[in-house]
Amino acid sequence: MLSKHPSLIKMFYSFFIIIFIFYVFLDGDFYYIKHPLSIIIYILLLIIIILSYYIDNIIINEKIYFINKNKNKNNFIYSKKIKKIDHGFDGILELDNKIPKWWKQIFIITIVMSTLYFFSFLFTNFANQQFEYKIAYKNQLKKIKEYEKKKPQANLDTVKFDKKFINDGKKLFNENCATCHNVDGGGNIGPNLTDDYWINHTEKTLIKNIFYIIWNGSKNNKVMRAFGASGEIKGNDIEKLSSYIYFINKKNKKPNNPKSPEGDKINFY
Ligand code: HEC
Repeated sequence: MLSKHPSLIKMFYSFFIIIFIFYVFLDGDFYYIKHPLSIIIYILLLIIIILSYYIDNIIINEKIYFINKNKNKNNFIYSKKIKKIDHGFDGILELDNKIPKWWKQIFIITIVMSTLYFFSFLFTNFANQQFEYKIAYKNQLKKIKEYEKKKPQANLDTVKFDKKFINDGKKLFNENCATCHNVDGGGNIGPNLTDDYWINHTEKTLIKNIFYIIWNGSKNNKVMRAFGASGEIKGNDIEKLSSYIYFINKKNKKPNNPKSPEGDKINFY
């Protein structure tokens, strides 16, 4: 019995079925498609398909030969196989072949699939891209948070000024420091942080000096507590705070109502 599906069609069929299975059952993880084992399966499949193509060909040739041989003797097989539509008026004879079975099958499958998709989209979250996007987005945010937590914390040796820390630093400053240093850093209970006068100066660079005092607090005045050493604020956040203070000290407009200078005038670089 001759197969109803030409080999080329079989090839596409099998390939898309495999991809479909990967997609549906492995959560769309296309990693497996490139897996060495999968590639071996493709190659085996290809060999089988090529072989069956040749076998098909041999059988078809035999059949055609058989039909031709019997054409004159008995027209039965020939006429039953091939129907013709006679246009009559223009003299053209049109072959009225049946649509191939594989073609009809694909057509039916597309209809079934589209109804499945349509209703699942309406009533479930299956294959709902917006829902999948939301989940992916959430997971991504979670991963970023985890990464931030695990990221090595800044310390006195690694701290550096970075423009992109300024906004976060400002937020942290308003939450933790503004009560004593004022929102614009002009000073209140604590000293003005925007001038060149420093009570505490242990480090050579401004950014390190700021980091040091936030980490260790002031030895002379316990009101300025050791935010880093006590674990109250993590190293990366102190780096952000330091960048913000560095920014308002070096580059920003000076505050409206600055506290008068305290400490020594230091020309930090
Ligand atoms: C409870 C009040 C208070 C809070 C809250 C506070 N500070 Fe201070 N801060 C002070 C005082 C008081 C000093 C002066 C310490 C001294 O005399 O040695 C100071 C000093 C400093 C200095 C050094 C200034 C200098 O001239 O030596 C920096 C930098 C600083 N604080 C940053 C911060 C940051 C950043 C925060 C928030 C994480 C913060 N402070 C929170 C009261 C506070």
